[in-house]
Amino acid sequence: MEPRGRLEGRYSRRAALAGALALSACGRGRGDAQAQPYDAPNQRLPALGLRDMAQVPVGNCISTAELDNADYVAMSVKQCSQIIPAWQFQMEATLRPDGGFQFEDADRIAAFARANALALHATALVWYTQEPPALKALDGQPDRFALAVRNYVQAIAGRYRGQAGSWDVVNEPIRDDGSGLRDCLFSRNLGQEDYIVRAFAWAREADPSAMLVLNDYDLERTPRKRWAFMRLVERLLKRGVPVQALGTQSHLDIGMDPAVCRPAMRELATLGLPIRVSELDVSFQAPRTSFMPRAQKLALQAQLYAEVVGGFLELPRHQQVGFAVWGLDDKRSWLRYRPGDGAAADCPCPFDDDERPKPAFFALADAFSRG
Ligand code: GLA
Repeated sequence: MEPRGRLEGRYSRRAALAGALALSACGRGRGDAQAQPYDAPNQRLPALGLRDMAQVPVGNCISTAELDNADYVAMSVKQCSQIIPAWQFQMEATLRPDGGFQFEDADRIAAFARANALALHATALVWYTQEPPALKALDGQPDRFALAVRNYVQAIAGRYRGQAGSWDVVNEPIRDDGSGLRDCLFSRNLGQEDYIVRAFAWAREADPSAMLVLNDYDLERTPRKRWAFMRLVERLLKRGVPVQALGTQSHLDIGMDPAVCRPAMRELATLGLPIRVSELDVSFQAPRTSFMPRAQKLALQAQLYAEVVGGFLELPRHQQVGFAVWGLDDKRSWLRYRPGDGAAADCPCPFDDDERPKPAFFALADAFSRG
């Protein structure tokens, strides 16, 4: 199977982030796609939200632009008990070119969480896609670079201490093919594995109470990547690094075999750490699926949602630390920014463009209500 379109060259994460930032800056939503036929005509939206059915925090990402949309806010608060800033806590949003900080958007998200008694999962302290000018200017000066990153971590993790219950400390450390750790601005200046070690130490120092998470994607799709991720975690734990939970993003697509999800989840859990399903969505963009009837795509998607949530709920209770989707409704999904035919009509989320529940929603609801 062709790998999912997250590989460098096929899809630039930076482009997606830039697109999202630009849209948010001009205050537009993403709701331009055409309404789709109703997907689950016989199933009404339950009065209870997913958060009330689940024994674990149920999360969703949210942007500042979305905070201005009353319907979406109501839906988020009904379904979720946790929010994750879509990008407002990333360096590109918070670290100014002159090295100063700008936390206005991040503060808005945090205030929203407080006002609605929602837990806040923050992401990410260090992520290879982030190359803010203030840090790029220090490339090749390891001591100054280290000082700047430490100051940054102190500033942001310190600012939300007591509020961000958990942090993705390092996001996406493993190469897509699983051949090892990524090379990036941070590894160049702080050391190949040491950048991760140091980020966790700085995070711990800045916020002794937050749960510190290592997060990555394709851990179910690419076994070799999962194994490289697990070997990294083993080495980190051996070195006394305070990795306290593992995030598996679970950005899937309907071309995947649903049967890979549960074994991958079980294997990840053998390390003994709690697991967060951190960014679940299931794209319709997959090789050889373009002529598939929509009903079949929806069923495959629901099956993948069911396998991920089922695998998660089969873990020992103390290893289930949170379950988050990356977007509640299709029209706000980040995947609609992907270049290429069809991306703008992708349907990866539990609700459709008109905020009606899809079979994927009922897969989550069924699993959570069964416990
Ligand atoms: C990754 C990151 C998230 C977010 C998405 C794209 O999966 O972990 O924080 O930026 O990409 O929106």
